[in-house]
Amino acid sequence: MKKTLCLLFALLMVVGLSASALARELPKLLLSVEDGSLTLTLEDNSAARSLLSQLPLTLTFEDYNGTEKIAYPPEGLDLSDAPESCDPDAGTLAYYAPWGNLCIFYQDFRYSEGLVPLGKLEGDMELLTAMGDGFTVTLTPEAEMTPEVAAQSQDSGERVLIAYFSLGQNADDAGDVDATTSASLLWNENQMVGTTEYVAQLIQNDTGGQMHCIETVHPYPTEFNAVVDQNHEEAAAGFLPELVASDLDMAQYDTVFLGYPVWAGNAPQAVYAFLSQYDLSGKTVIPFCTHDGYGAGGSYAGIASAIEGETAVLDGLAIEATDVPESEDAVLAWLREIGVQAASNDSTETKITITIGDTVLNGLLYDTALAQEISRYFPLTISAAGFGGREYYGVVEFYPENWEGGQTVFENGEITYCEAHHNMAIFYAQTDDPILSVEVAPIGKVTSDLTVFDNLPEHVDITFAMAE
Ligand SMILES: Cc1cc2nc3c(=O)[nH]c(=O)nc-3n(C[C@H](O)[C@H](O)[C@H](O)COP(=O)(O)O)c2cc1C
Repeated sequence: MKKTLCLLFALLMVVGLSASALARELPKLLLSVEDGSLTLTLEDNSAARSLLSQLPLTLTFEDYNGTEKIAYPPEGLDLSDAPESCDPDAGTLAYYAPWGNLCIFYQDFRYSEGLVPLGKLEGDMELLTAMGDGFTVTLTPEAEMTPEVAAQSQDSGERVLIAYFSLGQNADDAGDVDATTSASLLWNENQMVGTTEYVAQLIQNDTGGQMHCIETVHPYPTEFNAVVDQNHEEAAAGFLPELVASDLDMAQYDTVFLGYPVWAGNAPQAVYAFLSQYDLSGKTVIPFCTHDGYGAGGSYAGIASAIEGETAVLDGLAIEATDVPESEDAVLAWLREIGVQAASNDSTETKITITIGDTVLNGLLYDTALAQEISRYFPLTISAAGFGGREYYGVVEFYPENWEGGQTVFENGEITYCEAHHNMAIFYAQTDDPILSVEVAPIGKVTSDLTVFDNLPEHVDITFAMAE
């Protein structure tokens, strides 16, 4: 049943993604080692929930101080709603925020600032204490997580998708657009971007979400009136243009920002094609649009009624095109108003760029010792080759000291380092079928739309650099 929920309920849902006001039952975790497993009861705090959102995880632990076993999760944990200290006993799992490592205490230890409690282990601690350095522990939920718990466990920004349509990416000869065309392009972070894409990037900056550009197979004309005519015809006929195929896995996201230029008082038909193609039920959808002075028109209602299932559609944001270059504060204020926390305020992730030919992608570098070490070689160009329709990888010439082991799964967009093959890679597809034969350690992720990787030649130079 189609359902647009009232703002109050919608606000509660989104606030629920980032606040701990609601009582929650988090699942128990299993910590599996070679000879058995222990059970972990999680604390109800944001750090524990963001650990949960990273599962399953295989981490390599080493002994520290004869007191604890430590390992580094691929992403820093969310400290926004977590205690800043604790007094650990044997069996405490904690996160040492200053260094970003997990600690399993097998000895009692003193009260420590910066030590965030994550949970309590039950079972035979000998399984861990008997291990020397470099043993692997796999963390999984003991039982399958319910969708509600999965949503609660997410870190703000981690499961956010920002899907947008912009004429600049969808018009013939968009690079040459001038005053005769409707595709208004702006400079943002050394790139020419469409007006709506610009706003999408501002939302990305504040939420850390994944960008997805909605692209039609057949580009729209360059000339304004021709686009207007084509749009009228498409809207009148209820025609849904074919979209460029993509590996977008909607199941990975709980919150979907949906951006578009207002066309004839509504969203372009390409946006409706997107809505017909992906299952948004159970998600929170947040429209945003740019326009030339007439506002969002009927687009919010149109989007709400096009979505099947139990979906919360929040109040959107409409920005006049001329205001877009100065709209950062308005975007931030709106995100706060609708209850979406600005992830970057708390985030310790560092912005980077990934340049492939003329294309500059945005990305984030994780706050891990390995990532920080590798970033010291930036700007770093790797000569990369495509592999298996899922990744581009290239050998590097340094040997990081902070390799702590990795994992044999990946998320689309992840930038990884692999010790065994001594290379870095960007994974862009097949996260649902990650058949990796060697361990890779995620050091960051590409946050720009990933479709650029679908059309790259077999060999490309990829340059990683710190964003200015
Ligand atoms: C076919 C078409 C129809 C449009 N209709 C409207 C409209 O109804 N109201 C409005 O304010 N702007 C309208 N515009 C202007 C765009 O919404 C505005 O320029 C937008 O910021 C362009 O964003 P983009 O660069 O991301 O494509 C229209 C533009 C086009 C191309």
